[in-house]
Amino acid sequence: MRFAITGAAGMLGQDVVAAARAAGHDPVGFARAELDVTDAAAVADAMRHARPDVVVNCAAWTNVDGAEQDEDGALAVNGVGAGNVARAATACAVWTIHISSDYVFDGAKRSPYVESDPVGPVSSYGRSKLAGERAVAGEAPESHTIVRSSWLFGAGGLCFPATILRLAEERDELKVVDDQVGCPTFTGHLAGALVGLAARRPPPVGIVHVAGGGACSWYEFAREIVASAGVSCEVRPCTTADMPRPATRPAYSVLRSERGAEVPSLPDWGEGLSEYMALMQEVRA
Ligand SMILES: NC(=O)c1ccc[n+]([C@@H]2O[C@H](COP(=O)([O-])OP(=O)(O)OC[C@H]3O[C@@H](n4cnc5c(N)ncnc54)[C@H](OP(=O)(O)O)[C@@H]3O)[C@@H](O)[C@H]2O)c1
Repeated sequence: MRFAITGAAGMLGQDVVAAARAAGHDPVGFARAELDVTDAAAVADAMRHARPDVVVNCAAWTNVDGAEQDEDGALAVNGVGAGNVARAATACAVWTIHISSDYVFDGAKRSPYVESDPVGPVSSYGRSKLAGERAVAGEAPESHTIVRSSWLFGAGGLCFPATILRLAEERDELKVVDDQVGCPTFTGHLAGALVGLAARRPPPVGIVHVAGGGACSWYEFAREIVASAGVSCEVRPCTTADMPRPATRPAYSVLRSERGAEVPSLPDWGEGLSEYMALMQEVRA
């Protein structure tokens, strides 16, 4: 199958290109410099020329705090841009796989969020991702899969483990928030699942939750990162109130699926972290 992948130079996009190739497909990746998803005519033109069998939209404004200063900018990419990609896919009569986020929820629940739970974003970024979900469903009502995932980390981007590893080398002690709980998701695992979903005839319609197994707080995640790197740095818990940020994050955003065998389940986040650490060691060697 030919995959058209937008946002192909991003952390997830790179892994989707690699996973599609590894599975014997023919990926055509569009980095932002090659295709800006906010340009509807360019997106339509690119898809017509690429002649894909499926489109995977990994392009996004992912600067969560930055979106608070420029909600229109985030909406242009995450809302309107997502709609442009789905419209172009529909015009080519192909399926759209679109990536969304746990940040569409308000985080007030204390048991895992499933697909039918009410949304209620508490940040500009979350609102822009919700706008994207609605735009994709509107443009490709019978031919879209919206994959909500969370807390992505991977070798191809600036992610939480990379930041913690850098800080742990520089400092003797780190404070990390312990009152936000979610599912860290290794992009290598998510990318494989996306390619598997895209290759189904047909993929599941609507929203699916695909995130790393298990759950933890950022503090627990950081402790595990530092322990597995063998660095001597004390990791201490703190609260969100101790570390104010421009954007509000959901306090709890564990994602699980209620759609049974239709939806792939990913390995535990700890397995993802082990694979990530092994990859980083290869890069350093
Ligand atoms: N990271 C997370 O923790 C997380 C959690 C849940 C869901 N997600 C979702 O997962 C998807 C992939 O995210 P990621 O972590 O791989 O983010 P990423 O590394 O920031 O990748 C996003 C890519 O989109 C590109 N992009 C930005 N604006 C664009 C535009 N107008 N046209 C085309 N491309 C554009 C970016 O290019 P530049 O770098 O040049 O701007 C970047 O290469 C996104 O939909 C995101 O919302 C992420």
